[in-house]
Amino acid sequence: MDSPFRSDALILGIESSCDDTSAAVLRGTRMLSNVIASQAVHMKYGGVIPELASRAHQQNIVPVVDTALKNAGVGVADLDAVAFTRGPGLLGSLLVGVSFSKGLAVANNIPLVEVNHLQGHILSHFIDMPDEELPHPSFPFLCLLVSGGHTQIVKVTAPLEMEIVGTTIDDAAGEAFDKCAKVMGLPYPGGPVIDRLAAQGDAGRFRFARPSVSGFDYSFSGLKTSFLYFLRDRMREDPGFIEANRADLCASLQKTIVDILLDKLVKAAGKFRIRDVAIAGGVSANSGLRGGVTAEGERRGWRTFLPPLKFTTDNAAMIAVTGYFRYQKGEFSSLSVAPEARIENMLTGA
Ligand code: KG4
Ligand code: ZN
Repeated sequence: MDSPFRSDALILGIESSCDDTSAAVLRGTRMLSNVIASQAVHMKYGGVIPELASRAHQQNIVPVVDTALKNAGVGVADLDAVAFTRGPGLLGSLLVGVSFSKGLAVANNIPLVEVNHLQGHILSHFIDMPDEELPHPSFPFLCLLVSGGHTQIVKVTAPLEMEIVGTTIDDAAGEAFDKCAKVMGLPYPGGPVIDRLAAQGDAGRFRFARPSVSGFDYSFSGLKTSFLYFLRDRMREDPGFIEANRADLCASLQKTIVDILLDKLVKAAGKFRIRDVAIAGGVSANSGLRGGVTAEGERRGWRTFLPPLKFTTDNAAMIAVTGYFRYQKGEFSSLSVAPEARIENMLTGA
């Protein structure tokens, strides 16, 4: 059925769920601009401090939106809708984007469209770039969603129809990277640092615990504990152990995490007989995971979809494209919509 809503709608997307303030403008699925202000303020604390994040969002949001509109060559009056992240994320951070979006929608008399941040990561595979055509997965496809807060295998049957078929029962993959990095004295966020150091290391040098969890679910807390105890024992014998073996530790740890992720993904693809396989979320930037998924794909005849690096971390273009799909179905939010820190159901709008 044809949508009564325009297919060339101009959508402003706003993302403020964690520590990046981002705004993007899309015409339909085509990206016209995508601006991200990252918050350096958290680095010295070794993690995101919610109160500081929300204050930084308040400072950043107006200039970020302004720049996104300017870069797209459009004015506020041209917008057809404003899409925003309703959750999951940090409540105080989400509130900044939600309030700003409401104000903009009221002032311009345009629809307000709430977006689930996790759906956004997955649908980042449908953003059309201004200058290059990226291939899109066909439905149904499987998406391994790996971020700082989530690790899920999602079966996607249509842009807004998704089902979680596997999820972590404890830590997320990004959390495993970040916590293990902290144990090694590496800065936050640890994932990219481990990735970089792993490139010079021997991934076969050390072995760490691998979980046995049923079905397509994941667990990373056993690995974290085994890594911690392993280092504690070695450091007792040799206080310089971490320093002397950093690259090998990173490479071995990264390989363990990637193997755990791929094992369930391969099983799920086999069970559902799905050959279009995507990855998304912050950890999808990991070079070991990208290489691993590509290699499995070649072995098993999958078409694999790796997001461009700029869409792996939080960005508003993915919120705008998800907002566009909802806009086309007329799924608008009322002005009483409130942010949600936790959202368990992939099928709900937010
Ligand atoms: O999706 P994201 O930007 O924020 C959340 O919604 O959580 O993901 C952030 C996570 C952090 O845990 C970070 O360490 C991890 O993504 N990450 C990486 C890499 N780049 C970011 N983990 C491993 N390797 C990377 N290259
Ligand atoms: Zn995210």
